[in-house]
Amino acid sequence: MLPGDKSISHRYAMLAAIARGSSEIRHYASSQDCHSTLGCLGALGVGVEVRGDTVTVHGRGLHGLKAPDGVLDAGNSGTTMRLLSGILAGQQFESTMTGDASLSRRPMARVAQPLRLMGASVETRSGELPPLKIRGGNLKGIRYELPVASAQVKSCVLLAGLYGEGATAVRDKIPTRDHTEIALRDFGAVVRCHGSWIEVEPEPKLQGRSLEVPGDLSGAAFFLVAAALVPGSEITMPRVGLNRRRRELLDYLQTAGMDIRVENETDHAGEPRGDLRVRYSSGLLSRCLPDIGGSVAASLIDEIPVLAILGSQTAGGVEISGARELRVKECDRIAALAANLGALGAQVEEKPDGLVIPGGQRLRGADIDTRGDHRIAMAFGVAGLVADGETRVHGAECASVSFPDFWEALARLQARP
Ligand code: S3P
Repeated sequence: MLPGDKSISHRYAMLAAIARGSSEIRHYASSQDCHSTLGCLGALGVGVEVRGDTVTVHGRGLHGLKAPDGVLDAGNSGTTMRLLSGILAGQQFESTMTGDASLSRRPMARVAQPLRLMGASVETRSGELPPLKIRGGNLKGIRYELPVASAQVKSCVLLAGLYGEGATAVRDKIPTRDHTEIALRDFGAVVRCHGSWIEVEPEPKLQGRSLEVPGDLSGAAFFLVAAALVPGSEITMPRVGLNRRRRELLDYLQTAGMDIRVENETDHAGEPRGDLRVRYSSGLLSRCLPDIGGSVAASLIDEIPVLAILGSQTAGGVEISGARELRVKECDRIAALAANLGALGAQVEEKPDGLVIPGGQRLRGADIDTRGDHRIAMAFGVAGLVADGETRVHGAECASVSFPDFWEALARLQARP
């Protein structure tokens, strides 16, 4: 039911492209974002075959990418643009990467600055916005402290570090998802961790792999919350990714009183996975959700939209802080949550770095403006399950950025007796 994990799919495809030999990636994410990554890799001369949800990538080795004929299009995908910029910074040719209207408004100084420190030339539109024009090669290793908690920036620097002279180290003060570190090791790179520093050795011999992507926990989050809101629900989701930095979502929901069990836990290529079984439990809605702030906000960053909906339904509500990054996602998610919860008749206090959402609020169906953001669309689809009357999610098809079958899956679950 769940698509393959988006974050892991991007990384497997990119590493497979710069590895030697072919890689087979099963259950590759169906998300548009991950297909934007494949499109860019194809334009860089990488052979990519897609059969159903299996993708075969014919790697060209660390130095085998070709200069693209035209501009690389990352579509809506920040992960494509930020991670690939690390790899492009290591190439001797010039390339330009662009994106859709939403991506063109997202900050790129966070990747341009460390890449420049490494010796790459990175030109941006004024305000350090896309498109990015990158001329790389002859990089030197750096030690870099991340100014924002961002797995994309950490990954960009580590990927560029594969091409540096000397080791490159990044400090992840607030830990973020570590899929890049795990995948790099699995493809054969040397990655060391010293406290909060992560160090990569240059010029590794990356080797093609046979891999299977787990289900996307961030996609599962919508159904976990739906089950918490709709009496009688019981949902099982097989083989969901349980990366240690992202499963904090499960700890959070279990602490809040949700009945979630993890079964059949296994590990594949260093990434844990397991079956999730969730059941409605009447007690949850009579409580207060734990506050979301600091490192918890960083771990739950993609799930905050749907947790905000849940918060509005629990008796004590929820307070979200330390989540300023939400303002620079596919849309300003703090503003979009405040406006759309308001449209449903809820009281919400908008803060610069979060939201205060009182609990026990009755939602009334209304028109939802998704602002073209997939996670806003899906979160308000879940809100529609408990709102009185009809909720119309405009531009609902943007869910396909991460979860192309979301609406069908939601309808199927609702139709079950
Ligand atoms: C991602 C990292 C996060 C997350 C995004 C995917 C990744 O972004 O919001 O959906 O795959 O590394 P930031 O690094 O900007 O926090």
